[in-house]
Amino acid sequence: MIQFIIRQLFRLLPLRLFISKRYYEFIARKFPDEFWTLMNFGYSELDGDAAKLDLDPALESERYGIQLYHHVASGADLKGRDVLEVGSGRGGGAAYIHRYLLPRTMTGVDLSANAVALCNANHAHNGLSFRVGNAEALPFEDASFDVVINVESSHCYGSVENFLSEVHRVLRPGGHFLFTDVRHYRTMDLLKEQLSSSPLQLLEQRDITRNVIKALELEKPRKLALIAKRVPRFMTTPVTDFTAATEDSTVWRGLLTGKSQYLTAFMRKENGT
Ligand SMILES: C[S@@+](CC[C@H](N)C(=O)[O-])C[C@H]1O[C@@H](n2cnc3c(N)ncnc32)[C@H](O)[C@@H]1O
Repeated sequence: MIQFIIRQLFRLLPLRLFISKRYYEFIARKFPDEFWTLMNFGYSELDGDAAKLDLDPALESERYGIQLYHHVASGADLKGRDVLEVGSGRGGGAAYIHRYLLPRTMTGVDLSANAVALCNANHAHNGLSFRVGNAEALPFEDASFDVVINVESSHCYGSVENFLSEVHRVLRPGGHFLFTDVRHYRTMDLLKEQLSSSPLQLLEQRDITRNVIKALELEKPRKLALIAKRVPRFMTTPVTDFTAATEDSTVWRGLLTGKSQYLTAFMRKENGT
């Protein structure tokens, strides 16, 4: 009964409450576990015969979250480039890019100081670093990066327009912006409008909702086992429903019924701007 009431209460509260700075600060402090490095819903190819991403067995448990990064990073060649990730969370995506896609430098920036401290303790390495910063006022000089990546973070921002203007400012001419995130169907058109009216040129846009649903379904057993082991009982409902978003969760149901949609966009800053 208590679980039912908590579940209903959490459904009534705006999602924004769970994705606030305080929430990410709290989970980075409460769960400093090294093996949990990603906080996205994941990505799976729909074709069962598609070639499997070759990963170190130590990374296998986070395969689907890594595949979301691999998918979004496929929008540009990152080798030898200076890459910035905005909303780098617990650092697993930036660490994957640094190790497998060989940028010259990889920098992660996140609003949560606890998450950044965790990243610097667990992942920082030659050419890979993390710092605290706000997507809407990036702490970098103009034209500092060749590529900016943004994975499942922009739904937390006060102004996506300010963020896109900041991305344009910190990118070098000809640089790429590689983006992916989820929205309620009612605000998806607004997101598309924000992207297409930004100073960046839209190269490609793709709905990846079905790929995300498949990843959530494939991940269910691993996530539930982890939640049972690590999450206190009073937190299992919000964590299962919104953060892990396993099959049967509110988030999964929203994606399945079309209430929420997941979009990828590849964009570029024009040469000479
Ligand atoms: C759902 S998590 C995704 C993290 C990471 N991209 C991943 O896929 O694992 C969203 C992240 O965005 C960060 N974030 C939220 N608002 C932000 C802002 N205004 N500036 C920078 N980061 C922000 C949060 O602290 C959190 O780490």
